[in-house]
Amino acid sequence: MGLLNAFFMPQKNKDGRKGRGERLRHVAIIMDGNGRWAKERGKKRIFGHIKGAEKVPEIMQAAHEMGVEYLTLFAFSSENWNRPAAEVSALMRLLARTIKANREKFLGNKTRLLTIGDVSALPAFCRRELDLLKAQTKDFEGRNLVLALNYGSRDEITRAVKKMAGQVKSGNLEPDEISWDRISGNLDTAGIPDPDLLIRTSGELRLSNYLMLQAAYAELYFSKQYWPDFSREEFIAAVNEYHRRERRYGLTGEQLK
Ligand code: IPE
Ligand code: IPE
Ligand code: MG
Repeated sequence: MGLLNAFFMPQKNKDGRKGRGERLRHVAIIMDGNGRWAKERGKKRIFGHIKGAEKVPEIMQAAHEMGVEYLTLFAFSSENWNRPAAEVSALMRLLARTIKANREKFLGNKTRLLTIGDVSALPAFCRRELDLLKAQTKDFEGRNLVLALNYGSRDEITRAVKKMAGQVKSGNLEPDEISWDRISGNLDTAGIPDPDLLIRTSGELRLSNYLMLQAAYAELYFSKQYWPDFSREEFIAAVNEYHRRERRYGLTGEQLK
């Protein structure tokens, strides 16, 4: 292989596979459609959120069985604060309750809880539950649940740029040293591999400010199911679909052979 080719080779996964059947380490999900699910049943939106939260352990288990190391769930976006105050506060109470109710499961399954997004803006009763479970699970490896809370890519990159600007100002960073590695190291996802597969439920075909930079080369899968109806079977179907895709990273199909 020529030097030029070597230079342009995409980074291989740990097991050296690329292209079709590439290893699946990280699945990110936009859990959407709770409100419509409830409305179709003549119930309040929060009822859909409760059903949605109950769905999480099943999908966590399926992801683990499929060999997924990181599962990242969009639970509350930086834009969701603009919803009616009653829905926002119900979501916050549900978050704290769900964390508490699943504590034993995280400990029993040795699942590490991580968060992305600016959690400092969450109510104290949420932060308490999150901080406790994060601390209790911080040494677990191999099985990670990442909750995106008050998360939005534009907010995340804004905070990262501010941090780096501060480092430049204090003389700890030269503008020439700014690289993608440096930028990604200042994102909330520092240390977490990029998502390989991004699933959105509810039939919406958009990313809604979720992991915009990290998902640059993620395979996208859109499900028509509302999140409370999403199933282990469809999760497995998405994983199987992922393994049929060819990830080319800008190369030609022939180069991957
Ligand atoms: C996703 O379901 C959960 C959150 C955004 C918190 P939605 O609440 O967005 O449900 P729809 O899209 O209105 O049906
Ligand atoms: C994205 O869903 C956020 C979460 C799933 C938490 P939204 O329902 O907020 O996104 P839009 O408004 O349809 O784009
Ligand atoms: Mg929605």
